[in-house]
Amino acid sequence: MAEKVYIFDTTLRDGEQAPGFSMTTEEKLQMAHQLARLKVDIIEAGFAAASKGDYSAIRLISEEVKGVTVCSLARAVEKDIEIAASALEPAERKRIHTFIATSEIHMKYKLKMSPEDVLERAKKAVSFARNFTDDVEFSCEDATRSQRDFLYKIIEETIKAGATVINIPDTVGYAMPEEFGDLIENIMNNVPNIDKVILSVHCHDDLGLATANSLTAVLHGARQIECTINGIGERAGNASLEEVVMAIKTRKDIFKDLYTDVNTKEIYKTSRLLCRITGSFVQPNKAIVGDNAFAHESGIHQHGVLSHPLTYEIINPEDVGFPMSRIVLGKHSGRHALRKKLEEMGVRFTEEDLDRIFEKFKALADKKKEVYDEDIEALIYEDFFKTGEEEPVKVIHFQVQSGDAIVPTATVKLEYKGEERTATSTGNGPVDATIKAIIKALDIKPRLLDYSIKALTPDTEAMAEARVVLELGEVKASGRGTDTDVIKASVDAFVDALNRAIVRKEYIIKRNMAKREGTV
Ligand code: KIV
Ligand code: ZN
Repeated sequence: MAEKVYIFDTTLRDGEQAPGFSMTTEEKLQMAHQLARLKVDIIEAGFAAASKGDYSAIRLISEEVKGVTVCSLARAVEKDIEIAASALEPAERKRIHTFIATSEIHMKYKLKMSPEDVLERAKKAVSFARNFTDDVEFSCEDATRSQRDFLYKIIEETIKAGATVINIPDTVGYAMPEEFGDLIENIMNNVPNIDKVILSVHCHDDLGLATANSLTAVLHGARQIECTINGIGERAGNASLEEVVMAIKTRKDIFKDLYTDVNTKEIYKTSRLLCRITGSFVQPNKAIVGDNAFAHESGIHQHGVLSHPLTYEIINPEDVGFPMSRIVLGKHSGRHALRKKLEEMGVRFTEEDLDRIFEKFKALADKKKEVYDEDIEALIYEDFFKTGEEEPVKVIHFQVQSGDAIVPTATVKLEYKGEERTATSTGNGPVDATIKAIIKALDIKPRLLDYSIKALTPDTEAMAEARVVLELGEVKASGRGTDTDVIKASVDAFVDALNRAIVRKEYIIKRNMAKREGTV
């Protein structure tokens, strides 16, 4: 009999927790709409009690994204659970996911609690969460390093307390597939009421085994996989959604009647959306969604694939929505294609948005003979996610002198909160000189943590996409910029990150002041 494996997507919670992957509320909402189109079963939209940003993103997603269960993480404490419930209140279907660590090392050193107290806390948390929803998930954090009898006991008791899903996380990515399969099988055999719940797994990729462990768990009785788009997540990441879903679909001989409801044709689009939003691209050889995932370079392979695709392709690229041809656009075909592209990408837009982006498209088409699909995508994201955001820093103009016989020198004129400022600086390259001039004009000390630049298409007049991660005081932010000019793309990315950091920093200062005055 066909049996469903539930796909629990935690891109917006575990994924977003990883450095360099933070998203604004609007970006999270866009991702959540796309995850709903991908037809995941559950979207873990954040950890409501962790920050005001998380709370409002979960609330907005609960209000707007329908046809999917929206979930918030909560520690096994009443306050966290109440905040999660409040954020999820407008959701069509809601789940509270509460957790506590069950391994000796976590209980002793992190929680400083006895196993008996952990058990009591877990039971209380689950039954308290049931006051707000009938869908309550309980996770035994660090399950793979927990003592098995204790694990069986806490699972049995939390099911009695009302848990409907029990999650077994390999929190530190320590388990081997065989060992993890054995753990799942033993839970199935040793917890008397396990048939009352869905058994879930949540694997981290520290040893590169998150996908293998998740799939092995499914073969031993797990029926929910927690995973993320592109495998993003804490440290080395989580099991990647595209890998687990495509493995179950592709290896019918092994997974037999198991299936997921994921619309696999939306996989590539979802992966790209996440890359664009976070500015962090997957490596070219990444399974399923990497640029080279379906590229055949060697003559023998090319000949084979042309004769019969199955010689070297186990997945039809179309099944994951992988674009096999790049649409090339000219100035005249642009407007219609642009509308179609916005619709396809699921971006909510007005006619005004379309007009504005179309102007940018025409400017690009003037600079560049061929405008590719990727260029349009970049234009849309570049424009869309910046519109309406507060931008304390606006670059009015910059000029750079560079060459192999002069010291690169840049002059920048910018506006900081309406006040005009100018500065000149030298640097060890044109980008360095321009960034230094901006820093000088603003008289700030950001620390650049990461800078990368990538050509979007393989031609010398290609659009360049730059990504910057920086730290301003204690605030970390990332930004992106796209232009045919690498210096302009880099400046835009830097200023985008800077603006996000300034806005966040001001928010933190305001919040701390309000806390001190006792108004929050
Ligand atoms: O890795 C982990 O243990 C987690 C839990 C909160 C499920 O992310
Ligand atoms: Zn995790």
